Amino acid sequence: MSASTLDIKNYMEERRALIESALPQALQPVCRGAEQLFAAMEYSLMAGGKRLRPLLFLAALESIAAQDESIRAEDYLPFACGIEMIHTYSLIHDDLPAMDDDDLRRGRPSCHKAFDEATAILAGDGLLTHSFAVMLSTPAAAERLLPAIRLVAEKAGIYGMVSGQVIDVAAEGQPLTLQQLQYIHSCKTGALLQAAVVAGGWLAGADAAMRDALMSYAGSFGLAFQIIDDILDIVADEQTLGKPIGSDAANNKTTYVTLLGLDGARAAAAAALADAQAALQPLGTRGELLAALADACLGAQLAACR
Ligand code: IPE
Ligand code: IPE
Ligand code: MG
Ligand code: MG
Ligand code: MG
Repeated sequence: MSASTLDIKNYMEERRALIESALPQALQPVCRGAEQLFAAMEYSLMAGGKRLRPLLFLAALESIAAQDESIRAEDYLPFACGIEMIHTYSLIHDDLPAMDDDDLRRGRPSCHKAFDEATAILAGDGLLTHSFAVMLSTPAAAERLLPAIRLVAEKAGIYGMVSGQVIDVAAEGQPLTLQQLQYIHSCKTGALLQAAVVAGGWLAGADAAMRDALMSYAGSFGLAFQIIDDILDIVADEQTLGKPIGSDAANNKTTYVTLLGLDGARAAAAAALADAQAALQPLGTRGELLAALADACLGAQLAACR
């Protein structure tokens, strides 16, 4: 194992540990009588998961901050936790019977199975809404914090993930072109990853050219990530993945695999990963951590697709 592989593994482990310890602090007790809501939010949020979005947020923040020692990852954990709360809400709702109807998530019964549908819907609502209070508690100057939060609101919502999920559900059983599928993937998965990465940039004072590079990197990262997710839905095993295999086929989803076959989908994911790396070029040495992270996360997942 090369020194840089070791470095990125250490970086990921250390930042994940920070995120894991900050997440319980981000969850506040709910109103008296709504204890079940808190239990359901905690159940899903603390079930593990790769914590990829908060990790990418911190990596972008620290990369752009470079030598600016006034920016410390520890101070930005509320923002990182808010992003993970939004992601977790999206998973709770994604699993509901009206959506993908999946009974397993992060290695446990899905929220609506462990509790009930109404509680799962409201746990998602609670995580989403509270995430904004948590992000707003980040000790950062308003001229950086507000654009970052606005970006998250747009990309997690109607200008990104929520619209992507709607189009994804509507497309079940419909023939799609590769271009249409790429659009769905970029909205439902790429947009929140873009928000995480570019928000990290905003908070560290990235200029417009840097933010463009980060946006393009995260867009390609997101596409590669969702293509790999489509492949794993076929080739992985339920225990390793912590969610059901064959969900896409059961829901008649068009995926990269149905359009291109397994080898074609692997090649498309590798190409998107290369695009993500190329997008970092304008950042020079500031792009090195994000490049290593893409290799470590996506490269490893691609290897699992064999
Ligand atoms: C799953 O995301 C949903 C997709 C966008 C494919 P992750 O694979 O990041 O899920 P966790 O957070 O590790 O559970
Ligand atoms: C979901 O895509 C993307 C989200 C916004 C949650 P999938 O439906 O493929 O995600 P998994 O496979 O259930 O995690
Ligand atoms: Mg889905
Ligand atoms: Mg799903
Ligand atoms: Mg999937």
